[in-house]
Amino acid sequence: MKVEFSAFPKAFSGNVAMFVAADKQLLATAQAADSKAGGGLTRALGAGRFTGAKNQTLTILGQSGDIARLMLLGVGKGRELDARTAEGLGGVVAAAANAAGHAAVTVVVDPVKGSRLSPGQIAAHIALGARLRNYRFNKYKTKDKPEQKLSLEHLTVVVAGPAEARKAYAQLEPTVDAVFFARDLVSEPANMLYPVEFARRAKELTKLGVKVEILGEAELKKLGMNVLLAVGQGSERESQLLVMRWMNGPKNQAPVALIGKGVTFDTGGISLKPAGGMEDMKWDMGGAGAVTGAMRLIAGRKAKANVVAVCALVENMPDGNATRPGDVVKSMSGQTVEIINTDAEGRLILCDAMWYAQEKFKPQAMVELSTLTGAIIVSLGHERAGLFSNNTQLSTRLRVAGSQIGEKLWRMPLGPKYDKLIDSEIADMKNVSNGRDGGSITAAQFLQRFVQDGVAWAHLDIAGMAWSTKGDDTTPKGATAYGVRLLDRLIADNYER
Ligand code: BES
Ligand code: MN
Ligand code: ZN
Repeated sequence: MKVEFSAFPKAFSGNVAMFVAADKQLLATAQAADSKAGGGLTRALGAGRFTGAKNQTLTILGQSGDIARLMLLGVGKGRELDARTAEGLGGVVAAAANAAGHAAVTVVVDPVKGSRLSPGQIAAHIALGARLRNYRFNKYKTKDKPEQKLSLEHLTVVVAGPAEARKAYAQLEPTVDAVFFARDLVSEPANMLYPVEFARRAKELTKLGVKVEILGEAELKKLGMNVLLAVGQGSERESQLLVMRWMNGPKNQAPVALIGKGVTFDTGGISLKPAGGMEDMKWDMGGAGAVTGAMRLIAGRKAKANVVAVCALVENMPDGNATRPGDVVKSMSGQTVEIINTDAEGRLILCDAMWYAQEKFKPQAMVELSTLTGAIIVSLGHERAGLFSNNTQLSTRLRVAGSQIGEKLWRMPLGPKYDKLIDSEIADMKNVSNGRDGGSITAAQFLQRFVQDGVAWAHLDIAGMAWSTKGDDTTPKGATAYGVRLLDRLIADNYER
């Protein structure tokens, strides 16, 4: 989809969206169109439910001049029109254009009283939102239905001062590439995307200046990462550790480490999952997808920061060589783990990846993302990811970053009583507690046992966020790439320069 910013023309033509603020307040362009049409817009507004509330739309056919379809776009209350809301508006316009089968659409950005954003900034964020919404994973469709195809190819944003908008958009544009890259990774089926293939795709980041290193099973064995290896040993596909470095910040400044769970398929292993819905487990690498997408964005916009990433890539399969419930293995940290349930595999691969990252990079902070537990979906649904942390400052930074770009979090508790639940009779710990109670918390407690002293650590359980069956204003159904923008924003606001 092409985006163009232009100054106000003499007259509008084609498909045009115009702002209406809360309480049916026609803004300048809509007002002019209304008088030209002899009050036709006002009459249309009188008839229905449309009030100009945020994200509402009302399409009127063949209005004034050369306009084919005029869309009234509700922008809500001026003071609520921030970057995130503007992105939502862009998404709504893109979705409406695709539903109607339009190839081109124009959005007119009138100044909105009360908004802290300039019209140029609003225009740029509208364009970003439209692009983010205009995504579809269709590479395996040989007979795509016309009504499912994306028709929108050209977006024109009309704004006084298009140069400012162009400049603002240029800074936002790397986001699109990174988010689409992550969505593609998450959408791929597991026969196409397995650990080696994931790592191969991440290798493309070399072009942006990211140092990419890939460790195979022989190297992981030498490093003592037996717990990670135990998860992958039932699979024909070789496990991989993907290590990425972007060290463009001050020399001698400790990096931030990003860790991702990359289970390219999770059958549960010998603790096999039930058949219904198991296909969802192709996206059990959403954490690694987000981390890799974030690295692409951080490098894409040439962030002045030191960031490293470690993704544990494995396939969890049942097999004659698979790990058995009750097996005991020694982690890279030296601690031993009794694997009671082979379906609690995320924490197993992460404990070695986290230890590796801390030993190798001595990070100041470590943020890990994983589709770790079904229990977090019971707790928080699909609205917020669970946030577990040993550090209030890091938690606040994450929460603030998330609310700015619309990837929300909710902090969950940790504590010694929960920790005790994973003590084992014969090893240092077991990978699950006895019951299902507090399942997301006991998972986080397991991870915390692998956090070294002095490291600010956060674990984001994104099981409810990586995939959407409904879609959202800037996210179509399917892979969301939740975490890409969150991590980028965390770095931009707190660890840059
Ligand atoms: N990948 C799953 C968690 C998951 C479930 C993600 C549903 C997305 C949707 C994870 O590996 C898993 O199987 N967790 C178990 C843990 C249990 C065995 C303690 C779970 O949540 O049931
Ligand atoms: Mn599992
Ligand atoms: Zn899993």
